[in-house]
Amino acid sequence: MDSNTNTFKRRRIVTIAPGKVILFGEHFVVYGYPSLIASIDKFFNVKVNFSPPTVDEITIESNLGFKATIQNSVLTFPLGQEDTYHEIIKKLYSVIKYLMTHIGIDMRSKSSMFIHLDSEIPLGGGLGSSSAFCVALTAALYHSIDNKANKDKICSESINAEKILNRDTSGADCSICTFGGLGRFDRLNGFKKISADFSDYRLLIIDSGVAHDTFSMIERVSEIKNNRPNDFKNLCNKYSNIYDQVLSCLEHREIGNIGELLNRNHELLANLSLSNPILDKIINICNSEGSLGSKITGAGGGGSVVSLLHKDDVLVIKNILKRLDLLNLKYFFAKIGSKGLRTACNDKPSKQI
Ligand code: MEV
Repeated sequence: MDSNTNTFKRRRIVTIAPGKVILFGEHFVVYGYPSLIASIDKFFNVKVNFSPPTVDEITIESNLGFKATIQNSVLTFPLGQEDTYHEIIKKLYSVIKYLMTHIGIDMRSKSSMFIHLDSEIPLGGGLGSSSAFCVALTAALYHSIDNKANKDKICSESINAEKILNRDTSGADCSICTFGGLGRFDRLNGFKKISADFSDYRLLIIDSGVAHDTFSMIERVSEIKNNRPNDFKNLCNKYSNIYDQVLSCLEHREIGNIGELLNRNHELLANLSLSNPILDKIINICNSEGSLGSKITGAGGGGSVVSLLHKDDVLVIKNILKRLDLLNLKYFFAKIGSKGLRTACNDKPSKQI
């Protein structure tokens, strides 16, 4: 925590962080292996407004339709609001409280803080909604006290905040939501951008419609590691081998060959009990119709599938979408984004920080 506590200096802050897709290495990254991750063109928008002194009150409101007010650490929900939202709000509030304490913000200045969340990233879909929230809120709170924290500082503080939701987070998700683009991440070396041209390819993201909980999926893998250490080591070795081949494909601009490696990475995740019948069904639809390769993206157990397609395989794409439509599944084509965290203060136009 900073040695001095601070009062708010800004009246209005807007921060935007992208969602992410893990192309290779979810879960293995928790155990120190490298991952390949990318930001996508879906964003989490945090708007923070401070009003003149009234009482020390925080209001949280989201485009998902929930709202809560916090006065003297007591949460109040509007009558009739769904209970499922209450759990989400409690988690959001624990992150807000953590960040205010650690960034050194003094709420006793009797300002009211209004936090509006506007997210295009599906909740529980494995696409980084909680990390994008942590990153965007961390940046907003630093800016609220005029602290010119750089992206490295914002990233490391948001990883600490995310640990409240997910104790064992590797930091991959907050890193990509902060820095954006395509890159590799491992726990020792952090995030490093990689340049690769995906312009002939399309990444289809399909929501299984089953929300997942990253924390329990990490626990599931940890149990396997403890109960079947040899099997786990074997899967890690296989993953290392896949990852080396991915880097070689990127280096030699053989993006299409990554498809088969996605399938092999998925097999390892399935061996870690992270797939389920609907995820398997989606992957089977994509691959049997001619996708280059598909896998779970994110923690698994639900969430989303990522499938790699060549942009000219129009019939393949059409047939896949037709079959996904028959199952009423939601999907979108993600562009690998170049933009990481952005912020704007006091109604000035958005600028890169
Ligand atoms: C979740 O998006 C990715 C995991 O590897 C967890 C983490 O790296 O923090 C499952």
